Amino acid sequence: MSEAPSYSPGLAGVIAGRTTIGCVDQGELLYRGYPIQELAQKTCFEEVAYLLLHGELPNELQLAVARKTLYKFATLPDAVLSALRTLPKEANMMDVLRSMVSLTGHFDPVRGDGEEADRQRAYWLTAQISSIIAARFRLLKGLEPVPAKDGLGHAANLLYMCHGAEPTELEAGIVDLTLVLYAEHDFNASTFAARVITSTRSDIVSAVVGGIGALKGPLHGGANEAAMDMLQRFTSGEEAATWVREALSKKQLIMGFGHRVYRNGDHRARILEEKLRELAKQLGADVWMEIYDAIKKPMVEEKKIFPNVDYPCGLVYYLLNLPIDVYTPLFVAARITGWSAHILEQKVDDRIFRPLSIYEGPKMRSVPALKDRP
Ligand code: SDX
Repeated sequence: MSEAPSYSPGLAGVIAGRTTIGCVDQGELLYRGYPIQELAQKTCFEEVAYLLLHGELPNELQLAVARKTLYKFATLPDAVLSALRTLPKEANMMDVLRSMVSLTGHFDPVRGDGEEADRQRAYWLTAQISSIIAARFRLLKGLEPVPAKDGLGHAANLLYMCHGAEPTELEAGIVDLTLVLYAEHDFNASTFAARVITSTRSDIVSAVVGGIGALKGPLHGGANEAAMDMLQRFTSGEEAATWVREALSKKQLIMGFGHRVYRNGDHRARILEEKLRELAKQLGADVWMEIYDAIKKPMVEEKKIFPNVDYPCGLVYYLLNLPIDVYTPLFVAARITGWSAHILEQKVDDRIFRPLSIYEGPKMRSVPALKDRP
């Protein structure tokens, strides 16, 4: 008899594929070989998007073309704008984004199949996602959507389309950094979902819609909103410190902490936390940092569970006055580039994902006649 295949709950420790896109390691996070620390310091989101989609960093001309392409693809179809106007106000922003990406998929402006066509679709989806988030943001406030502005960087344009005014350098810079940090993270749950969908030879829009569904959950991208919901409950560091001890004693999950791969902390969280401290200082938001640190201290010192990128990111977005339900959509606005790169890669060396399961249902039995069933 052959040996039973091994089972790893949550596929922990299982290698499910090869990739040249991102490498998540205890010591380093690399996008196409470049360390995240350097990318965070030296590149903007569009450069990272180009790197993920093309494999190399762009030169000046290639970057200008990438920016123009994003601008060209930013206009939303009328059908998407009218649907955005008719959706219930209470609808969850991630659900809205999921539906609108699906809807805009019917107005795909890119012709043809193949890698280059899908790369163009990746630019188009990247642009459309930002425009959808911003249009919904404004419609909820009773304001008309504002079209993208030629010449602005992607993060600045996103904020411009939300607020109808150009952001400060500080605002655009820190949102750009979050997009760079969120762009790629190898076989995380949403990327894996997108790769599974792609492995069936389905299309890029379907794979991205699946990715959005997976990212929404609070164990994944939804944690940036959940972390801020948690921080918001407290008015002082002491209050937060008392709560976190009690929560841990009840085995509650503390949102924005822990990671399947990182055991000594998430590189991105460290980079973003530094910026968060600078931002909070400039804004005189000391009490928020006291609350932030009061929760972090026992998690790190006693539990050895470290913040992931979503912990500082929630507070960064909050201090920038962004409404909480837009935080996970902003994660999508960045991760669309990582998903797309993985979708392109999956197509090159594809084999349909089809794992096995351990059957634990009833033993074989025969079907009783309808009249004999209880
Ligand atoms: C993202 O995969 C990626 O790369 C994802 C991501 C990306 O960029 O794509 O990095 C983005 O999803 C970040 C994670 C966001 N989620 C959260 O912040 C939600 C809270 N965190 C967890 O639920 C948890 O840590 C996960 C989901 C992130 C990881 O889950 P694992 O790998 O199944 O959990 P584990 O094996 O690491 O946990 C080991 C122990 C458990 O305790 P015991 O049962 O052994 O006693 O650590 C405990 C856990 O209960 N633990 C926590 C905790 N995280 C782990 N305890 C309290 N609070 C936490 N946050």
